[in-house]
Amino acid sequence: MEQVAVKTTSSSYNVYIGPVSLGAVKECAENPKKILLISDKTVYSLYGEQVKTLLGEIAPVECLVVESGEEAKSFEEYYRILTFALEKELDRSSMIAALGGGVVGDLAGFAAATFMRGIPFIQIPTTLLAHDSAVGGKTGINHPLGKNMIGAFHQPAGVFYDPQYLQTLSGGEIRSGMAEVIKHAMIADPLFLEWLQSDSKAVMAPDGQQLAYMIKKGIEIKAQIVSQDEKEKGIRAYLNFGHTLGHAIEAYMGYGRITHGDAVASGMLFAAWLSEKVLGADLNYTRLKEWFHSCSFPQPLVPEMKTEEFLPFMLKDKKAGAGKIIMVLLERIGAPVLYSFSREELQALLDRYRKEELN
Ligand SMILES: NC(=O)c1ccc[n+]([C@@H]2O[C@H](COP(=O)([O-])OP(=O)(O)OC[C@H]3O[C@@H](n4cnc5c(N)ncnc54)[C@H](O)[C@@H]3O)[C@@H](O)[C@H]2O)c1
Repeated sequence: MEQVAVKTTSSSYNVYIGPVSLGAVKECAENPKKILLISDKTVYSLYGEQVKTLLGEIAPVECLVVESGEEAKSFEEYYRILTFALEKELDRSSMIAALGGGVVGDLAGFAAATFMRGIPFIQIPTTLLAHDSAVGGKTGINHPLGKNMIGAFHQPAGVFYDPQYLQTLSGGEIRSGMAEVIKHAMIADPLFLEWLQSDSKAVMAPDGQQLAYMIKKGIEIKAQIVSQDEKEKGIRAYLNFGHTLGHAIEAYMGYGRITHGDAVASGMLFAAWLSEKVLGADLNYTRLKEWFHSCSFPQPLVPEMKTEEFLPFMLKDKKAGAGKIIMVLLERIGAPVLYSFSREELQALLDRYRKEELN
């Protein structure tokens, strides 16, 4: 079994890539007395009973199933989890297990972060995107006015990533996760990006070996960054490459109407275009756009949106302040920088981008 160690200021844990090992679960979660398994409807129907039986060898398991999709990262579902946990008499010797993609991981992680001021939780990711979301300890829910606006840093006790679970993912969900794989390559590893670009088929429909390779690569990059900057005081912000616009697209379109990865892919293209215009970087935007398109990502989405309606969502970004928006740009592949725009500056650039893309 492959293993990646994550060492942050607050805790250290392992990401295991392979079948869930009960011994490792027991050890990292310090023999929990009760387990709350949280999953969504789709994932529970596929793997819920199997995982429940497995974890049942450690301690009694209670299950709570939430709606599938982004809508589940809501106050209502969060409240329902806390009520359920209280009714089932979970306490500080209990553990939460998140079985699902980034939505379940963020939601269950936030419940674990706040229930009785914090109890241990493990991640059992089932999407490709979750190679990103399950590692690093960012947990949270959405507010109608902005994505991930309510949350906490709470590191998992362990991450148990069995690529077998990914076999039932749709092509669209694989592509969504692939956007975060590409993001990791773009901000940190030019050779990895070259490898991805050399084979669009591997990006669109990776086989088991390619998937395991991409997952490990992405997790290693994320683990390295998070280990140096757990609370996003500095370089962790680079992981937001493509996300300032991506999050705004998700909020503007309505949560769940577009996958996180498709929105981020559009955001990365805009950030690459900006990097060329503002920093004079040579990223070959046109080639990048064609490659994204050949991997079936949607064409840049911004041209379809009116800047004045759209910009307010970018200003709600957590990295915005005093009318400024801080975005991650690239001086070159593997060399991210933070760049601060005034509202007016960004508005003008968005308008110019829309015009260029519409022509
Ligand atoms: N915490 C972080 O650091 C971080 C990082 C990146 C993204 N995120 C968050 O992650 C979320 C997106 O995660 P996601 O793309 O995994 O979405 P998701 O959890 O909604 O999963 C996508 C869809 O796939 C289904 N699904 C999941 N696993 C499946 C499987 N094995 N087989 C068949 N269907 C399956 C789900 O039911 C859902 O409908 C967003 O909310 C985003 O904000 C968090």
